[in-house]
Amino acid sequence: MANSKISSPHPASSLLLHIDTACLYRDSIGTEGVDRSEIESLAPELHRIHQTLTKKSAGGLDAEFACLSLHNTMPESLPPIEAAAEQLRRFEDIAVIGIGGSSLGAKAVHQALEMDMPGPALPRLNFLENINPRQLDKLLRNWSAEKTAIIAISKSGGTIETVIQFLIVRAWLEKQLGADKARHHQWLITDPAQGWLRELAQREGTASLPVPPRVGGRFSVLTAVGLLPLAVAGVDIHRLLAGSAANAARCVSDNPLENPALEMAALFYLLDTKHNKRVSIMMPYADPLQLFGDWYRQLWAESLGKIRGGQQDGSPAGTLPVTALGTVDQHSQMQMYLESRRDKIFTFMAINDWGQNLPIPLSSADKKYFPYLEDKRMQDVLDAEFRATVQVISDTGHPNMTLRLPRLDAHVLGQLIDLYQRATVYAGLLYGINPLDQPAVEKGKQLAIKLLSGGH
Ligand code: PA5
Repeated sequence: MANSKISSPHPASSLLLHIDTACLYRDSIGTEGVDRSEIESLAPELHRIHQTLTKKSAGGLDAEFACLSLHNTMPESLPPIEAAAEQLRRFEDIAVIGIGGSSLGAKAVHQALEMDMPGPALPRLNFLENINPRQLDKLLRNWSAEKTAIIAISKSGGTIETVIQFLIVRAWLEKQLGADKARHHQWLITDPAQGWLRELAQREGTASLPVPPRVGGRFSVLTAVGLLPLAVAGVDIHRLLAGSAANAARCVSDNPLENPALEMAALFYLLDTKHNKRVSIMMPYADPLQLFGDWYRQLWAESLGKIRGGQQDGSPAGTLPVTALGTVDQHSQMQMYLESRRDKIFTFMAINDWGQNLPIPLSSADKKYFPYLEDKRMQDVLDAEFRATVQVISDTGHPNMTLRLPRLDAHVLGQLIDLYQRATVYAGLLYGINPLDQPAVEKGKQLAIKLLSGGH
């Protein structure tokens, strides 16, 4: 039973994420945690996968794991992204059309930085991800074509949800503005050489930016895929990349106690394969991080949910990522977390400094009922509920870790993105699967096309 948590071995400073993994270990959480000897036994394997990751992420954009060195390679590609953002800022509404990896990263950072309430000079980002006829119809009725632009994002250039929404919004623009004028309201982000969207950009001379060929959808938020919409909304994309670089700099050792991404991958791998912990719950105590949970959920699931060895009879890899939200899910999910199957690992997240902290006004009549709220502020209540949940989960012996964000800014978000992308690739290497592909997803895409073509 863990009543007190030992402090993280990783350096904490006012800028860096505080990553506390203590309660994933047996010596802190009890029998369901990882024994330190298990991590020690994994050392040769961790050394091997660290070498592989290091080798395969060097070599710039041509590297297999180019997604893990974007903080080095993207800065020189920022001028065209910033120039496009500058032009897009003259509009009021931007239709950001893309799905999955071509949407979730930008959506998550946008929500986290509360850019969804832009100042008077910044456009509104409208993410068109799912097929939602009612939503699109309503938006088209409310937008003014003169003041609306499209950013269409698809690595493959042919994802059906993105294609149809792009076609509908483009036709709407063309109807009102004429094809020539409408073309100047469109920016396309896609593979530099192939696909329907690339061909269209070349044929019609539409403004476009490339997705680096070796960077896949869910790992692409730090390319034009995420950086263009975020720059339009006023996010400091240099700070986002700097945050990613800062986390990468924490992850250069092959010793898991000095490399948080390697340690997280090793612990989650051991908890799955040796301790039957099959569900990984991310529970931020912060509304602005709810979509970050969705981004993580896709990254973890699509990268790791595979058959080991690629054989049908191979063992399955990956823990099921689940998102929750504190405090809301204390009133919804906590009962099950505490008493149902003991197959879960928890990641709690909290923000140290919200930048605002509203006092709770109490009359003397109120104080009689809520004496403990006297002189308290909103964040005191959130912190108390957060700490209480971590304590209860720990006291009942469930493995859990905590990420404390010093504040919500682009630098911290960049750190989180790198931490999870890196941990995901390490975990894939540990399972012996390819974290970058998604063969089962492709099967579904192909079948939907067959059905639309009249096939059965
Ligand atoms: O991570 C992935 O590869 C997927 O989620 C893709 O991003 C998603 O299917 C959209 O693909 P595309 O960018 O080709 O339209």
